[in-house]
Amino acid sequence: MKKYWIFISALCICACSGKVSTDKGETGWQKETSGVWIMSVGTPEKVNLLSELHITPKVDAIQRMGEADLPISEQDITAELVDGKTYIRFPLEKDEKIFGLGLNFKTVEQRGRIMRLHVDHYGGTDDGRTHAPVPFFVSSRGYGALINSARYIDVWCGTSVRKDSKNPPVVRDRNTDKQWAAQPYSDNLEFLVPAEGVEIVLFGGPTMLDVVRRFNLYNGGGVLPPKWGLGFWHRVPTLFSDKEVNEEVAEFEKRGFPLSVIGLEPGWMSRSYPCTYEWDATRFPDPEGFVKGLNDKHIKTNVWINPYVSPDGELYEKIEPYTGSHTVWCGIVPDYSLPETKKIMTDHFKKHQLDKGVSGYKMDENDGFDSWLWPDVAKFPSGNSAEQLRQIYGSLMQDVTTQMYRSANKRTYGLVRAANAGTTSYPYVIYNDYYNHRDFITALINSSFIGILWTPEVRSSGNAEEWLRRMQTVCFSPLAMLNAWADGTKPWSFPEVEKAVQEVASLRTQLIPYLYTAFADYAFYGTPPVRAMNLEPGYQAKTTDEQGELDATKNPYAMAVRREVKDQFMVGPSLLVAPLFAGEEERQVVLPQGKWYDFYTGKYVGEGEVITVKPGLDKIPVYVKDGGIIPLWPKLTKVDTEKHPIEIRYYGKKPSIYELYDDDGETYDYERGEYLRISIEVKVDSEGKKKGEVRVPEGKSTWSYGDFSFKYMTE
Ligand code: GAL
Repeated sequence: MKKYWIFISALCICACSGKVSTDKGETGWQKETSGVWIMSVGTPEKVNLLSELHITPKVDAIQRMGEADLPISEQDITAELVDGKTYIRFPLEKDEKIFGLGLNFKTVEQRGRIMRLHVDHYGGTDDGRTHAPVPFFVSSRGYGALINSARYIDVWCGTSVRKDSKNPPVVRDRNTDKQWAAQPYSDNLEFLVPAEGVEIVLFGGPTMLDVVRRFNLYNGGGVLPPKWGLGFWHRVPTLFSDKEVNEEVAEFEKRGFPLSVIGLEPGWMSRSYPCTYEWDATRFPDPEGFVKGLNDKHIKTNVWINPYVSPDGELYEKIEPYTGSHTVWCGIVPDYSLPETKKIMTDHFKKHQLDKGVSGYKMDENDGFDSWLWPDVAKFPSGNSAEQLRQIYGSLMQDVTTQMYRSANKRTYGLVRAANAGTTSYPYVIYNDYYNHRDFITALINSSFIGILWTPEVRSSGNAEEWLRRMQTVCFSPLAMLNAWADGTKPWSFPEVEKAVQEVASLRTQLIPYLYTAFADYAFYGTPPVRAMNLEPGYQAKTTDEQGELDATKNPYAMAVRREVKDQFMVGPSLLVAPLFAGEEERQVVLPQGKWYDFYTGKYVGEGEVITVKPGLDKIPVYVKDGGIIPLWPKLTKVDTEKHPIEIRYYGKKPSIYELYDDDGETYDYERGEYLRISIEVKVDSEGKKKGEVRVPEGKSTWSYGDFSFKYMTE
């Protein structure tokens, strides 16, 4: 009977979608490329998460990964149209784990959660309302799926129990059975898309990392930021003038503190909330000269904007016909899905920023709190609904600004507060106003499942210890930034830890060759540069759902409490980072299988085990995989375009090869083949003697790497 139902519903899908059914006859799945399948259910909407973006799947790179089998039968995935909506179901197995489903801050494993995926500023609960509610999941069985709809999608991730379940939960008596659970076992992952059809994209593995890589490559591959983007960023107080910014920069120089990008907050603009995107003539009388002055010192300028247009600027009248029915902070809301809007905004941005030498944007408030954002009854001239635009607004702004920089053959790197599926190749990193250090690290981990980047930016701190701990983690993230927009903090605000902050910021700059290569691997192979441990081979950490304490007011159903490791992560191929948080002197670190070594000393620390470490305040615990090759620049304060010597650190005893990446660091010429992979090999003979060799392709020369020297860290 069950089988029959699936058969009928699948046939119904094929009929509704008008797709030719496969030769099996039962499903509408069509192979897109190696290990990627697509099914159209019903009539998918014209606008989806990918349709409005400029992305080209990296099919060659996906094909090089080889074919993949799905660990589930396509027939077991069901979808049907009910009541004008699409219901989708994936089967779950007993020990299966589900990751992804948006930028969550508190949980890594998502089984057991109910969410409505809805773009919003994160409000403290993993309920689906977040900056990047990407409807993509990765299963520990080695496959994943994208529900490609720009609607608010409901998800029941292992919570709903069907009468026709293959693995029904045990019925228990709450009166007498201590194992009674408020959420009985569920073998379902169910989605509700409020539309009469949707496209579903399935990704094969075999490993979870392979699933993520296929997903990222399908989205155009990861972003390769300009090299300067990986240096240290500092955002100045909102009303700073050009003179004050220059004084701040001089202070960085005096102290020998690294600085790559200065971020200007709303006060650079003549009006903000709503915005003119024009320079304020009192604080910045000579914007071009100001930006040039910084550029000459190899410091880039990034400017804050939000989407809402002020009646006071030169843009208002031009853009007004292409804006929505409602205002936000009394500003009109451009309908970025229209070609006319894209043109008008690009012209304006080009005139006032790109042509004046500005390197990029921090695009704020495109996630929106309901209290001030346009409501879902707002109407837009494109005819796209308010709901659809809410889900893709951040993506559209990323697209328009990226296209502008691309047409000038300049790479940009900036910040954004909203993203969704499809933005993997866009040069933007998500940040927010929420400020929980631990949760910021969990978000860092989760970003790697869903093809986006996150920065745990530093703003303020109650004490020197917290300041240093936050600085240490942000320096191991996709964007190392101090955001002093509100209270004017400086890296040296806590003199007790000034030296240690400077050390880790310098280390960040030293690591750029390694980080840049990790990003190249993101762009070329889809491998996230900062990754969840769960994507690392040989990682085994136990997650337990402990029966909750019964409490008449706080927990009347004795709901289970999940205990999972969510505070350590991988950076690039070889570094394991295990941050400490204020108030902690020691912590446990789960080491995956294989030998691991201390980053600072090269000493062996363990293998496939849980170790307890007590590193002192100055250092963030970092461990290197056996055979790890870490190329380092000297301690530079600026990311310029010169060649700098590379110290190649080698850890452990295993022979290994590392492919260091280099290109001009600033343009898109690498897409036309203007790049190098420098092969670094360390051979180890039978007596344990190491011999390193660097192979630059013949006839080629590097852009920013000078002489190479080896340092063998492990005795
Ligand atoms: C907030 C943003 C902050 C800062 C501020 C300026 O929305 O998250 O980082 O830019 O706006 O008004």
